Amino acid sequence: MPTAHSIDLLDPAAFDGGQPHDVFAWLRDNDPVHWHEEPNGTGFWAVTRYDDVKLVGHDGEAFSSARGIMIPDTSGMPGAGDAVPRMMISMDAPDHKHFRRLAVPDFIPKAVKAITPRLGDLAAQIIDGVIEKGQCDLVAEVAGLMPSYVIAEMLGIPLSDGVALYDLTETIHSTPDPDHPEAGMLAVIEMLQYAHAVWEERRAEPRDDLSTKLAHATIDGEPFSELDFGMYFLLLVDAGGDTTRNLVATGTLALLEHPDQMEVVRGDLDGRLNTAIEELLRWVTPVVYMRRTATRPAVLGGREIAQGDKVVMYYGSANRDPRVFSAADVLDVTRWPNEHVAFGGGGPHFCLGAHLGRAEIQAMLRQILTRLEGLRLAQEPEWLRSNFISGVKHLPVEFRAGSRAAS
Ligand code: HEM
Repeated sequence: MPTAHSIDLLDPAAFDGGQPHDVFAWLRDNDPVHWHEEPNGTGFWAVTRYDDVKLVGHDGEAFSSARGIMIPDTSGMPGAGDAVPRMMISMDAPDHKHFRRLAVPDFIPKAVKAITPRLGDLAAQIIDGVIEKGQCDLVAEVAGLMPSYVIAEMLGIPLSDGVALYDLTETIHSTPDPDHPEAGMLAVIEMLQYAHAVWEERRAEPRDDLSTKLAHATIDGEPFSELDFGMYFLLLVDAGGDTTRNLVATGTLALLEHPDQMEVVRGDLDGRLNTAIEELLRWVTPVVYMRRTATRPAVLGGREIAQGDKVVMYYGSANRDPRVFSAADVLDVTRWPNEHVAFGGGGPHFCLGAHLGRAEIQAMLRQILTRLEGLRLAQEPEWLRSNFISGVKHLPVEFRAGSRAAS
């Protein structure tokens, strides 16, 4: 039984095996806006109830993103010189809106619908890569490839480069390796160097891709700088990568662990896949939290928040809040409505890639559930040890070897 003193939401080990739902349940019931100490920082408010999470997410004026979206306060990025690097996810209105607007047309439902057949082809190609072997790591060899390929196509770079860039984002996210503490920064530099080359190419020779649109964009008549381009590029590669990957892989694991639910989905894929995906988003909640900073004093859940306090929304907790979801701890692939907050609470930063992410997940799960016959765990999965992104890191599976679909 957790107590206020035993709670440590910073310890990556607390997320090994899934999110700490017993701790979240205790917090929601006993201390829903909980002051959490931070060994090398100021401390923060941990917000765990659904309604409070939505309130914070919606109010971009009272709760700013500009001082960072992760709990530790970070200093400037390398390669930026005196310029302050700007990234949409950690900006406030009105600049945030101007930045976001540049990519919105490529992420609206109509644009996603237009590429949906291509997503189906890519998913089939990914399964072709493993189906003859009868076994694979579902994370690295299947789920991780989809978002890397898709963002690569949108940015107009080779698919293999999409995979290499995605590996860099993994290094950026990894807990600093004591033997190579500089690895994360080096990965950021490498990513920005790659983006620099794309920027130069598209400035010289425009093409029909998102990179070209961004390289030639202007904001209030001012050209989008090379650094702005690099940071935008980094965010697009990063934001859709391990989130979508973790949903596909950890969602598949959840279905393997709940064979009755697997049967319901497989029994009527066309009728059930959409509700199943929403339930898996609720169940897995790949993004553990987003941080905001109070711009003025506020009262939340009866607690007094001071200006400058860090306020952290725990999405995985909100998604299991029994005040909103009946039988919240039960996986029910037919659950509807399902107003989960896996893509955020609905404010200005609501996930730009939500439609795209859903379409990628739908294409990939359809292939996994129809083509990998007799799918089962080959070994115990290995979980990510991260307090920010939740899911399995390795998911060794076996299935009946089959034949490739494409020639
Ligand atoms: C299962 C898949 C995904 C999940 C769970 C997810 C989750 C999230 C969450 C929680 C946020 C923050 C919302 C907030 O602060 O209110 C976010 C923001 C964002 N996501 Fe996603 N995401 C997913 C897929 C994608 C994809 C495929 C892309 C496309 C590249 C993407 C691009 C972004 C961007 C650019 C932002 C920042 C938006 C802004 O600041 O205005 N995401 N996502």
